[in-house]
Amino acid sequence: MAEAIAEHAPAKVNLALHITGQRADGYHLLESIVVFTEEGDRVFVEASDEDRFTISGPFSDGLDAGQDNLVTRARDHLRALVGSTAAVAIHLEKNLPVASGIGGGSSDAAATLRALCRLWLISPSGEALSALALQLGADVPMCLEARSLIARGIGEKVVPVSMPDLPLVLVNPGVAVSTPSAFRALARKDNPILPSLPDGLDSAGIVTWLSNSSRNDLEAPARLLAPEVAEVIGALGHTGSSLSRMSGSGATCFGIFPSFEEACAAATKLAAAHPSWYVRATRTIQERHHGKHR
Ligand code: C5P
Repeated sequence: MAEAIAEHAPAKVNLALHITGQRADGYHLLESIVVFTEEGDRVFVEASDEDRFTISGPFSDGLDAGQDNLVTRARDHLRALVGSTAAVAIHLEKNLPVASGIGGGSSDAAATLRALCRLWLISPSGEALSALALQLGADVPMCLEARSLIARGIGEKVVPVSMPDLPLVLVNPGVAVSTPSAFRALARKDNPILPSLPDGLDSAGIVTWLSNSSRNDLEAPARLLAPEVAEVIGALGHTGSSLSRMSGSGATCFGIFPSFEEACAAATKLAAAHPSWYVRATRTIQERHHGKHR
């Protein structure tokens, strides 16, 4: 794919996730502070004589490259929206653990939409693209934005927020938590709402505010489904994390560190002590990164 267009599909991290209710259709109402990281998958698209979809990378094993994949569904939905019949070769580099609470599949779908808009030189309205994204999954609209934001509704109502750079360590203990199971195991669905986030906090201020004023309501049910979550949170705390919490429905947890150097040092220690865990030091991104070529 020498001329492929590349899009970063960043990991999505829920710094806070409050579950505040449930809709009649079963979907949960939530309020979440979301950031995206330099760490992520990559999606490459290129004009082709026929549709192709290939997957590589450390977490490609066992992934379905068939019609159920969110990437091919994103392609098909976008083609239908714009009335295109253009064939395309798509390659997904899967660097993020699957079903792990950091939005891998949703971010891949969103990156596919962004990449195909660039390849086909189309610019559907933001509204049409978000509506299409929502048909693919509740987290896909926020992943289309791929910048710091507050999400409400079932995740589809997003408002950008300014957020200082946060050095993070992401840790997944190698267990998958099913999102519907974590939601089903919630003790209550009407938890307190997220207080409003004060403007202008620096990274230390964000950590204090998050610790005092916010939670991840899915963490308790995920700990029941995957006891490894508690072990990961404990390990992050022991390596100097200022705040350790689970993202999404888990089992990936994040630690916020005072500096990127400290995050890297902690990641090295954690990886050495737990060779089977996925451990990455990374930083939050303010704007989406994309490159032209592979
Ligand atoms: O929309 P998506 O397919 O990503 O959601 C996966 C599952 O997670 C849903 O079928 C639902 O069980 C649960 N979910 C929810 N409330 C949300 C988002 C997801 O109950 N806001």
